[in-house]
Amino acid sequence: MKSFSLGRVIPLVEVSVTGSAERAFPVSELATTEMPLRDARMRPLRDLRISVTDRCNFRCVYCMPKEVFGRDYEFLPRGELLSFEEIERVARVFIGLGVEKIRLTGGEPLLRKDLECLVERLAAMRTPSGEDVELTLTTNGSLLSRKARSLWDAGLTRITVSLDAMNATVFQQMNGVNFPAALVLEGIDAALHVGLAPVKVNMVVKRGVNEAQILPMASHFRGTGVEVRFIEFMDVGTSNGWNMESVVSSSEVVRCIDAAFPLVPMGREKPSATSVRYRYADGQGEIGVISSVSQPFCGDCTRLRLSADGKLFTCLFASHGLDMRGPLRNGESDDALRRRVAALWTRRADRYSEQRGEDSAAHSRSKIEMSFIGG
Ligand code: GTP
Ligand code: 5AD
Ligand code: SF4
Ligand code: SF4
Repeated sequence: MKSFSLGRVIPLVEVSVTGSAERAFPVSELATTEMPLRDARMRPLRDLRISVTDRCNFRCVYCMPKEVFGRDYEFLPRGELLSFEEIERVARVFIGLGVEKIRLTGGEPLLRKDLECLVERLAAMRTPSGEDVELTLTTNGSLLSRKARSLWDAGLTRITVSLDAMNATVFQQMNGVNFPAALVLEGIDAALHVGLAPVKVNMVVKRGVNEAQILPMASHFRGTGVEVRFIEFMDVGTSNGWNMESVVSSSEVVRCIDAAFPLVPMGREKPSATSVRYRYADGQGEIGVISSVSQPFCGDCTRLRLSADGKLFTCLFASHGLDMRGPLRNGESDDALRRRVAALWTRRADRYSEQRGEDSAAHSRSKIEMSFIGG
């Protein structure tokens, strides 16, 4: 196994984990491990996605349908959220274990008060070999025109905005709260204006709702430098009423755009990337497609997720998370936290999106909601 630049060896201890690994390795069998940490399928740990709140001001049909997330829905009480100090500490532990990229998510992350203070702390972090940690954020864009400047000032360099339609009525139908597309577009403009780059736009495509918006979205952002990524509707959580008929495959998306604006395939930016990119043959920029349903990409998945209440999830489709908040609040040392994470990652074997195709019952298992651990 290739050694990390510092060549550190971490002894592992037995921990009690209710992670989602399909086959739990007896941790005591693993005497030592090296950097970067590799899971049971040899995938390195590189990306940490941190949810800072489980709340959102949207009720997207594919994520937080308003029939389920109604007025009486109980979100996490304030005291259960990790503080910024706690998040920073966990992030530091992860960076020490080989994480190179951190994404802030929600719910809607910009709803978390003073998020800029967290951005500032995380933006200042370096990897053990002194490199910048790539820091980014996924937002619904509703507060972005107000916040783009302060996020930039705090040290954020890039951003991803969700937008599912250009058409006002279709977008309002998708977001469940009649939020106007024009205000999200203002947020995107503000992000471009302050210099956040790249700005990416995520569009989840749901059959019968917004597939007619594929081309308008592609045309609007062509030539602007913004990369639109078309995402297959996934069976995350248990409340979005997913079925295969509602999925518009990436190949259909690519055919649709290619017919109007010829595309040239470019592949993935790196093996662990979620999206496969295409460039416009006439040089007007790029699009991406994220095909978790039709072409799963679990084989190179390097992502771990931290929920707002401090649980670690080794897969977007996991049922259980490993609690970090308890140990953090009980004064556990950084070394002990590191060993906890190492034990969790080294026995990880998740590959849910691949299993979905092999086992049709897989998707009806209990799964955590997307709004709880971020996209
Ligand atoms: P870049 O840093 O721009 O490469 O972003 P990213 O694609 O890693 O992150 P982003 O939050 O933009 O992810 C886009 C969408 O891809 C998410 O909203 C999810 O729908 C999906 N996605 C992200 N990570 C995973 C994953 O690990 N598994 C699956 N199945 N889908 C994922
Ligand atoms: N399928 C695909 N993507 C989803 N997202 C949320 N729910 C789903 C789903 N069911 C993604 C969207 C959004 C991000 C926050 O999460 O891309 O941009
Ligand atoms: Fe909120 Fe994002 Fe989920 Fe939509 S996809 S409900 S904006 S967390
Ligand atoms: Fe990674 Fe799980 Fe997504 Fe597969 S389904 S890519 S293992 S998060």
